[in-house]
Amino acid sequence: MRHQRAHGDSAADVRDFFTPRAADWDSRFPDDGPAYAAAVAELGPRTGDAVLDAGCGTGRALPALRAAVGPGGTVLGFDLTPAMLEAAVRAGRDRDGALALADVARLPLRDGCLDAVFAAGLISHLTDPADALRELARVVRPGGSFALFHPVGRAALAARHGRELTPEDLRAEPNLRPLLARCGWRLDAYTDEDTRFLALAVRRD
Ligand SMILES: C[S@@+](CC[C@H](N)C(=O)[O-])C[C@H]1O[C@@H](n2cnc3c(N)ncnc32)[C@H](O)[C@@H]1O
Repeated sequence: MRHQRAHGDSAADVRDFFTPRAADWDSRFPDDGPAYAAAVAELGPRTGDAVLDAGCGTGRALPALRAAVGPGGTVLGFDLTPAMLEAAVRAGRDRDGALALADVARLPLRDGCLDAVFAAGLISHLTDPADALRELARVVRPGGSFALFHPVGRAALAARHGRELTPEDLRAEPNLRPLLARCGWRLDAYTDEDTRFLALAVRRD
């Protein structure tokens, strides 16, 4: 995951971008596994919990999520791009979670049915971030948790792409905190360092 795109992309734009990248997605980032496992550990799902990997892509977080909730828990992986889900199946990630083609802005889930949501590399690709964050809040129970993760920090990612970080950057803490608050979340922890970005939030009552 080393891409950064502008907000406001349509679902078709997202698919056009990720479809040609799906087949070799995992092989391009072979060393990220421990970082995903550490982020899932900080999200802190417990045995028996129901968790969603929102924008799961090839399902790189699913093994860690399954390990955390155990065989009696529920792990879902939803994504908008069929080719990413097909790559997830080829990688055997459907053994760790139930995969489905779904837009995180319109989830086929009941209110409050989840304990936690993990979202890696998702927020920068959302057509309408507030809309999706509100929908994720709808399906998580009060007190449930949310992790926004990326295995590279904002500055390192921008440098890699030859971009400048601007004050408008959605993941900058002064922007992310009020956005999450407007959408039903309380930002509880924020880390943005070269080797990772991790924002942890709690579903407000
Ligand atoms: C940068 S990739 C990250 C994939 C995976 N989470 C990972 O860490 O490897 C972003 C993923 O989000 C998906 N995506 C973007 N917008 C989405 C939406 N509205 N609903 C569901 N998935 C979405 C894309 O199809 C893509 O697979």
